[in-house]
Parts: sequence; C-alpha cells; structure tokens
Amino acid sequence: MQICIILGTRPEIIKMSSIIRECQKRKIDYFILHTNQHYSENLDRIFFKELELPKPKYNLNVGSGTHAEETGKMLIGIEKVLIKEKPDIVLVQGDTNTVLAGALAAVKLGMKVGHIEAGLRSYFREMPEEINRILTDHCSDFLFTSTKKAKDILLSEGIPKKRVFVTGNTIVDAVYQNLKLAKKKSKILDKLKLKKENYFLVTVHRQENVDKKERLEEILESLGLIYAKFNLPVIYPIHPRTRKMIARFDLSIPKGVRLIEPIGFLDFLQLQANTKLVLTDSGGVQEESCILKIPCVTLRNNTERPETLEVGSNILAGATPKKVLRCVSRMLNKKRNWKNPFGDGKAGEEIINIIQKYGKK
Ligand code: UD1
Ligand code: UDP
Repeated sequence: MQICIILGTRPEIIKMSSIIRECQKRKIDYFILHTNQHYSENLDRIFFKELELPKPKYNLNVGSGTHAEETGKMLIGIEKVLIKEKPDIVLVQGDTNTVLAGALAAVKLGMKVGHIEAGLRSYFREMPEEINRILTDHCSDFLFTSTKKAKDILLSEGIPKKRVFVTGNTIVDAVYQNLKLAKKKSKILDKLKLKKENYFLVTVHRQENVDKKERLEEILESLGLIYAKFNLPVIYPIHPRTRKMIARFDLSIPKGVRLIEPIGFLDFLQLQANTKLVLTDSGGVQEESCILKIPCVTLRNNTERPETLEVGSNILAGATPKKVLRCVSRMLNKKRNWKNPFGDGKAGEEIINIIQKYGKK
C-alpha cells in the first residue's frame, strides 16, 4: 500500500515526524508532499534537518497569500500529484489551509483521507482553523483523535463511530523522542544568557490576536507588565506574521521583552522545559507545556484543547493586561502534578497500525 503524507507548516512537520519515522521503520511505501505554506528556513527546513526527515518528493512552493489564494493554489497542485501517484490513503495533520486543501483534493478524487488530530473544536468561527478542522473532519474516512473527548465531539456531530480512533497526539511522540536530545544538544540557555526558571517564554501568532492593532497592543502591554512585576526577561521567538504586523501598526516593544527569531524544535523544547511559565496562543505549545509540566497562560478567550484546562496545566487569560497578570500569578502558585491527557508517545505507531489494517484500497 502507498501513503501520501501532506504537510505545509512548522507544526505539521513536527507532528508528522513520528508518522514518517514509523513508515521508514516498517519500510512502507510512502511519499511526502510539501505545500511550502511555510518556506522560511526557520519555519521549514530547520525542522527537516533537526528531525532527520527525508526531503519531500513534491514541493508545491505555494508560499503565503490570502486564505483563498493559499488554499486554491494548493488544491490545484495537490490534485495533480494525487492523480499521478494514486496513493491508497492521504494523511493530513491539524487545521491549517494545507490540511483543508489536502483533504478536499483527495476526497474529490475518491481517495481515502486520514485526519490526524481530529475532533478539536474552539467553537469560535472567526478562527480560520476552526473552519478547516470542521470541513476536514467531515470529509475524512479515518479520524485519529488525541483524546476520548475529541472522539465524543465527532460522534455528536454525526460522524460514524467506525471512522474514529483514539490514538493520542503525535506531539507526545515528538516531545519524548527529542527532549533528551534537546537537553544534550541545545545551547540556547547559554546563548541567551538565561538561568533555568528565571525567564518567561512567549509565542503569539494567531490571526485573531495579531491582525488587529488594539488586540496586539494589549498583548504587548501584558508582556511589559509581566517584566515590570517579576523583573524576569520575557523571551519571545517571534513568528514572521507577528513581526510584520508590529511593523505595520508601528508598535513598540516594551522593556524586558526580548524578541528573537523563530528557533528550531530542539532549542524551543529546551527553552520551554526550563521556563518559569509559558504565555502562548499556539495549539502545539499548549499541549507541549502540559506534557513538560510547565504552567501555561493562553492568550485567547477559547481553546480547542480543553483537556489542558481540565487537568490544570493551562488557563485562558484573553488579552486584557490585568487579567493576564492575574492568570500568571495564579498559574505560578499551582502544583505541577497534572497528568498529560494526550497519550503515551506511541500515537504514530498506533495510527500506522490502523492504516495498515484498514487503509488499503
Ligand atoms: C499558519 C496556520 C496556522 C498555524 C501556523 C503555524 C492557516 C490558516 N494558518 O499560520 O493555523 O498555527 O501556520 O505557525 O493555515 N511567513 C513568512 N515565512 C513563512 C511563512 C509565513 O514570513 O515561512 C509570513 C508571511 O508574511 C505570511 C504570514 O507569515 O503572510 C502568515 O503566513 P500563513 O502561512 O498564511 O499563516 P500563519 O500565520 O503562518
Ligand atoms: N516551535 C518551534 N520554534 C519556535 C516556536 C515554536 O520549534 O520558535 C514549535 C513548538 O515547539 C510547537 C510548534 O512549533 O511544537 C507550534 O507551532 P505553532 O505555534 O507555529 O503552530 P500551532 O501549534 O499553533 O498550530
């Protein structure tokens, strides 16, 4: 049988890595199709290098654009490849434009689609990813969920039970497979002159947070207040989207907030594992902090990862500076004794087991 693995952005490369490794280990016939939605070295190739992933067989060079431009170009490019290769199953991961385009192109060609990290819902339709998730789930044949909760969501939406498999999230695989290596190889703490648990770590890149001036201003103000209160540096590997918007809105960076370029997975894991607390609007970072037992303050009003709120690793702070500060203090006083709800680090194995059993044409 042949598997087509479609990916396009930083988190997809990281979260597909254990699937790719499993295909290599079992000598499965597979190929990687990269849309190149992300193309900057530090959002793209650095992860292939670090995670020792093979070069994609196809690269569509789609790059950035409006939602329709990105999705449309991807649909056209992916369809051509799928017609040529005729894989038995097409795998997509997450909720990006790449995922929607991959699933849609495949299902219209009558091919089986497997959606990894299915069943996430923020119930916030202004989030472009929410639309991508719902549409992808509803056109997939195999829905691999991180938790039982996500499975229940899918069943409540009428998706047949036989299509849904609770496998855990492949981010746990990626963290377990790379944490030791990160400790050994990463020099980021020395490079940035940071001491363990003596800094805050931030990532913010969501369209709803950074494309509106007032919202982005509030977030930056919150970060400045955190520095003022705790007198600890706030380290912020800044996504290019956010950098672009800060320049466009002509916003200034508050004292104590250190912007750095996006970093590789090993450096990021090392920074995350040793920080006092994470502030983020990233999906993957909410999961990783939970796995690493690092308290997380999410700069959003909703999350599609409610499990992190339930176990107590995460809190929703929105973006009002006073509330963000209150949430930081609350999370710093918390015992870090929660359990990771996202599985045992064998999601990649489990997903490939299921595909080998049921995935042939
Ligand atoms: C995309 C995903 C988002 C995911 C994020 C991961 C969608 C709708 N969004 O958001 O779900 O959380 O990736 O990081 O699919 N840019 C670069 N270099 C790059 C890529 C982007 O400079 O390699 C800049 C460009 O200015 C571009 C902007 O970032 O216009 C946004 O890129 P895009 O891929 O459209 O969305 P992301 O915000 O990266
Ligand atoms: N990450 C990274 N370098 C960085 C910031 C994040 O390697 O500078 C990793 C992080 O460990 C996580 C993933 O990128 O695995 C999250 O990606 P992102 O926040 O871009 O997307 P989301 O998860 O929100 O879709």
